Amino acid sequence: MNLSDPDGLAALIRRRRMVRRFTADPVPAAEVAALVDLGRYTPSAGFTQGTSFLLLSDAQVDAFWTVSAEPGASNPWLDGMRTAPWLILVWTSEQAYRQRYAEPDKSAPGRGWDGEEQPWSAPYWWVDAGMAVQNVVLAATASGLGACFFGIPPQRQDAVRERFGVPAQQLSVGVIALGRPGDDGPSGSGRRRERRAYADQVRLGQWENR
Ligand SMILES: Cc1cc2nc3c(=O)[nH]c(=O)nc-3n(C[C@H](O)[C@H](O)[C@H](O)COP(=O)(O)O)c2cc1C
Repeated sequence: MNLSDPDGLAALIRRRRMVRRFTADPVPAAEVAALVDLGRYTPSAGFTQGTSFLLLSDAQVDAFWTVSAEPGASNPWLDGMRTAPWLILVWTSEQAYRQRYAEPDKSAPGRGWDGEEQPWSAPYWWVDAGMAVQNVVLAATASGLGACFFGIPPQRQDAVRERFGVPAQQLSVGVIALGRPGDDGPSGSGRRRERRAYADQVRLGQWENR
């Protein structure tokens, strides 16, 4: 891969920005399905593939906002996000990882999950979901769409599960709002904060000189 190719992956990664307002143009279901399919081609611990997606459009999008936002609420962020023709609800399952790591190839001493505490440096069901989300968001950007990832407030998650028939073991990772990019002006932390300097964020060999 040529990292300087203006149409290549490096340029795509650098130009991706969260989009918080969308045009009224529809996005065909097949296009959304193709993007979400790429979200399935990500690494996952033990190849558990514990991330799941629930795709909402039209009246389902309205229903989502009804159960996840205060009645009558309006603010620039919410008004912008409500213009998204598609919402991709992303879910993960701790239980799926517990089951996977009880399988014979993963349950050898020191490798499996035999205690109460999950045995990894970080809960892998969340790690894997983040990888999946980024694939979808990058694929959306590559195909000229816009996307924004946001979380469902914890106190609203049961109502969302209830409305859309999501099993209780599914944990809400968040939502990818998707559509054709509208004019959202300067919005979001990414426009207010500087990117950290490379030398601050990346250390070579040792964190600090002693
Ligand atoms: C875990 C996570 C949660 C986020 N939650 C929100 C959110 O609730 N609302 C929002 O508008 N953007 C949200 N964002 C987007 C970030 O604000 C954005 O990625 C960041 O400001 C950098 O901007 P950029 O992605 O446009 O480069 C979230 C991003 C991540 C990774």
